[in-house]
Amino acid sequence: MSIEINEQEKIFILNTKHSTYMIKADDTGCLRHLYYGPSVPDKDLTFLQAGCDRGFSGNPYEKKLDRGYSFDTIPQEYSCHGTGDHRVYAAEAETEEGSRATDLRYESYRAEKGVYEPEGLPHVRPDEDAAQEETLRILMRDAVTDLTAELIYTVFSEKDVIERAVRLTNDSDRTLFLNKAASVCVDHQYGDFDIIHFHGRHCMERQPERLPVPTGVFSVQSGRGISSHHHNPFVIICDHDAGEDHGSCYGYMLMYSGSHKTEIEKDQTGSVRLVTGVNNDEFRWKLTPGETFQTPAVIMTFSDKGLGKLTRKFHRIIRENVIDRKYLNSERPVLLNSWEACYMEFNDEKMLELADGAKDLGIEMVVMDDGWFGDRDSDNSGLGDWFVNLNKIKCGLPELVRKINDKGLRFGIWMEPEMISEDSDLYRAHPEWALTDPDRKPVMARNQLVLDMTREDVREYLFNCISEILSSANIEYVKWDNNRGLDNLYSNALPEDRQGEVSHRYVLGMYDLLGRVTKAFPDVMIEGCCGGGGRFDAGMLFYCPQIWCSDNTDAINRLKIQRGTAYGYPVSAIGSHVSESPNQLTWRHSPLETRAAVAMSGTFGYELDPSRLTEEEKEEIRQEIREYRIYRKVIQSGRYFRLNIGGADPSRFSAERLPSLDFQAWEFVSDDRSEAFVFVAALSVEANAPFQLIRPDGLDPDMTYHIAGTDVTVSGAALMYNGLRLDMMRGDFPIRRIHLIEHL
Ligand code: GLA
Repeated sequence: MSIEINEQEKIFILNTKHSTYMIKADDTGCLRHLYYGPSVPDKDLTFLQAGCDRGFSGNPYEKKLDRGYSFDTIPQEYSCHGTGDHRVYAAEAETEEGSRATDLRYESYRAEKGVYEPEGLPHVRPDEDAAQEETLRILMRDAVTDLTAELIYTVFSEKDVIERAVRLTNDSDRTLFLNKAASVCVDHQYGDFDIIHFHGRHCMERQPERLPVPTGVFSVQSGRGISSHHHNPFVIICDHDAGEDHGSCYGYMLMYSGSHKTEIEKDQTGSVRLVTGVNNDEFRWKLTPGETFQTPAVIMTFSDKGLGKLTRKFHRIIRENVIDRKYLNSERPVLLNSWEACYMEFNDEKMLELADGAKDLGIEMVVMDDGWFGDRDSDNSGLGDWFVNLNKIKCGLPELVRKINDKGLRFGIWMEPEMISEDSDLYRAHPEWALTDPDRKPVMARNQLVLDMTREDVREYLFNCISEILSSANIEYVKWDNNRGLDNLYSNALPEDRQGEVSHRYVLGMYDLLGRVTKAFPDVMIEGCCGGGGRFDAGMLFYCPQIWCSDNTDAINRLKIQRGTAYGYPVSAIGSHVSESPNQLTWRHSPLETRAAVAMSGTFGYELDPSRLTEEEKEEIRQEIREYRIYRKVIQSGRYFRLNIGGADPSRFSAERLPSLDFQAWEFVSDDRSEAFVFVAALSVEANAPFQLIRPDGLDPDMTYHIAGTDVTVSGAALMYNGLRLDMMRGDFPIRRIHLIEHL
């Protein structure tokens, strides 16, 4: 049973294969958090929470004579504002009179088979055998305002995942305003942890930072209307000494693509509270009688065997239950994207030339990036006018696609549906469709504005444009871009008391459009994009099986970006291409082999003009694509390991840089462990360097492996416990690829 309930004591236990989560409603109706960690057999851990009188921690009225009872110190499941709990809180509802106290107490529960599938929001999908999952719904109520909160927990037992979300309903006959409505509050009672979060910037996304949870409040947030390049909605809390294969770690991933906030507070008692959800800074949601607000969902998982396992649990749940299942075992095409090849300077002839070059190299799909529509010769114009520019694509889109298909190549196209240029026919016809504050000049970014996705008419227009393009030719892929965040949070279509809803309604509108498009065109694969990786989150992955990871295609920078991204997100979702050397952003030279190995550790494609390659480079690329076809299945669906090299644990970020050699190593292992690919990149080399051992992980110790390209066979045990000695690495940014295959 993944959900156990003690009706008498009102104790709820959620069991996954390796973890236990325990909740209890006490005699005041306070919903206490009793435990989250490795599986325990106990059925009641309330004794761990004996009350203790602490000065200046007040008491609820009914406990005024029990000074040890305070919401300020009790670990809770969904603590709200104004109850005497002065820690960061999960929700706040304001009445028409301006009272903001929100006191939710336990009312009832419901347990059922199956998963929670909120309307219009990304969520964890059921397994094929849906009977496996169970969902617990705990109903809480504020006796004064009649706000109810349904706390929802779906247990994916086999996968060690609990998905949480909340439905807040106004069950009164008066209007309420939600000023905050987080998805999750978890109180880690005994908290002496590190936090790992993933910050960055455009072209350098998701850099892990690890630091001890400080006393006070630490927050990770985006107020940009997109999940952002700057702070990903994914955090890990772990033991100070947790490493790749040891230590307790908790991962919290918000399935949301807009402004988000995660607050982590270490309080006066030393316990650590984590609250995550929609960013409340620009948020005020009107709840009329009977209305419900659904929070985004959060994927929570726990590993007591280190960060490597935590990563693999996230990869599994995202691949199997977040991304549409039809992509689970489908091999992603090797594609050539036109962006870094020719930016907006192309016509149909150039596209056909690129296609010839791509075909000659063994590439499988050609993607026509920005510049094919409207009056789009620069990024100052054209967004919104989703009509083929016949001055550039003279033969028309259907004919171009047919010619490319005839060469044996698939075809994909770039779109940026959520945006509008001032210099566009759409803006001239509908200026009110852009988000702008009344009487103010809008904030511009890339000289473009954002369409008001809260509006049904805007979504209808976009759906029709997209449908027309996709139905006009055999288009099998769309790169769905978004090249700016939200600044002017004002919608002409909403009344004044709903302007605080714009940021979240925008995301709901965007999900609605994506949902309609994926439903109407189920055979078109969408790759998400947001100026590179500005919206790399589990919300987008619900609609798009892969996301362009970064506008930075420099292989050496990508090593860092992709590793940070892969802490939470599967490699099969990480859009990654080989581009020219020197790189157009960093001007760095790097070997083709290294660029290929890094791009292969993602969805693999090219972003260059084949006509500018030398014959030797072309031959090398043909060989690499042939090899990738052998690797592809294991890379896209195998288990991913960050490897320890030179004695440095890859999760101790500060210790991993070695004085003389600087490596990064990772591995993919097939599910049956009969095959593995190890990659080792040297970021700097030194003469007469010490020996370096690489220890593959996740192999079967009892299996014998053949090291491809050699006559060596060796046991999995020797490979994992002794390791392989690398030959001396020389040159600029060399890479080694080691292919291990079961020796039968
Ligand atoms: C964004 C994307 C790029 C490219 C350009 C086109 O920056 O990340 O890959 O598509 O837009 O304008």
